[in-house]
Amino acid sequence: MTETTSFRLNGTDVSVAHETDETLLHVLRNRLDLYGTRFGCGLEQCGACMVLIDGRPRHACTLPAEAVGGRTVTTIEGLAADPVGKALLQAFDEGQAGQCGYCLSGILISAFALLKGSNRPGRTDIAAALAPHLCRCGAHPRILRAVERAAALTRTGAA
Ligand code: FES
Ligand code: FES
Repeated sequence: MTETTSFRLNGTDVSVAHETDETLLHVLRNRLDLYGTRFGCGLEQCGACMVLIDGRPRHACTLPAEAVGGRTVTTIEGLAADPVGKALLQAFDEGQAGQCGYCLSGILISAFALLKGSNRPGRTDIAAALAPHLCRCGAHPRILRAVERAAALTRTGAA
């Protein structure tokens, strides 16, 4: 059965037709052509599919698309429009924080949510925020440093 779900996506109102059992991740990638959010495990185990729903990180791989009706969804494609997102993108780029990059869109989403709440997180706060994310390349040390650098950029307004 097909249904239509309307929500706010990266600052724009969208309405999308989808199958009743379709996940938000499938809708984002295959109906809205937003390929930044990744499919990894499909089981809420790797964090590759993380998006923000009303500002909070959620796994899009298991969330039914209809669950975001009337809500606000932010994907990796929407981060650059926000100064905090811009700082994160700059810090990850300058710090070469990642290798294959597969995990990074999910990690950036969780880091964004963290920095929106505090521009001075401790190392343990960052590690806790990124705990739902696997990085098979072992880039964690550079990723942690990049989040710290992004926080510093937001404090100085340099991003
Ligand atoms: S694809 Fe959603 S957590 Fe792995
Ligand atoms: S950079 Fe390759 S999985 Fe994290």
